[in-house]
Amino acid sequence: MGRSKARFAVIVMALAAPLVGARTASPTMPASIRKIFISRCMGCHAGASPAAGMSLDPDRLPASIQDKPSSGKPDLKIFDSATPEKSYILMKLRGAAGIAGSRMPLRAKKLSEADIQTIADWLAGIKPRDAAAAEAKKARQTGLPKLDHVQSSDGRDDRGQPIPRRAG
Ligand code: HEC
Repeated sequence: MGRSKARFAVIVMALAAPLVGARTASPTMPASIRKIFISRCMGCHAGASPAAGMSLDPDRLPASIQDKPSSGKPDLKIFDSATPEKSYILMKLRGAAGIAGSRMPLRAKKLSEADIQTIADWLAGIKPRDAAAAEAKKARQTGLPKLDHVQSSDGRDDRGQPIPRRAG
């Protein structure tokens, strides 16, 4: 790739950053998942003192559970943004071996595997901020950000600064 082409890619990235950043900050939650949290979880996981000290109000998800250690299994994270498939919330929904306490939702009909998989897919699609920053850093080091990196990063470097245009 020529110099001017590389510069063009960086300019495109700079222009795209505000849009991409907005999407990363508030990933859209499908209506079907919203409904599950509201009707199946919020009866206990909401309000001033939610069960396990954890609100599952969809307006605050996923930020409220992202990389938050479980109170029952502190070495596991409710939503593990680095390895979403290992998120403790999925183990609790499936009643997996090794969970503390009960399978969720407590004392109610369990979610179907299809619904659990829908939640798993949604979590897997949320780009962790750290990974996005690492990709942006790598792109700067190699000098040639690929467009798919541009689309998946939040346009900021590992210190949260907007990625500057390269001189020359
Ligand atoms: C009837 C009340 C009730 C409902 C409904 C309920 N929970 Fe819970 N939940 C609890 C209680 C009580 C605990 C703490 C004891 C335990 O872990 O078994 C808990 C714990 C959890 C934990 C572990 C938190 C931690 O810090 O370790 C997760 C994850 C969880 N619930 C997810 C859900 C999800 C997702 C739903 C909806 C699909 C749901 N719960 C529905 C009462 C409920």
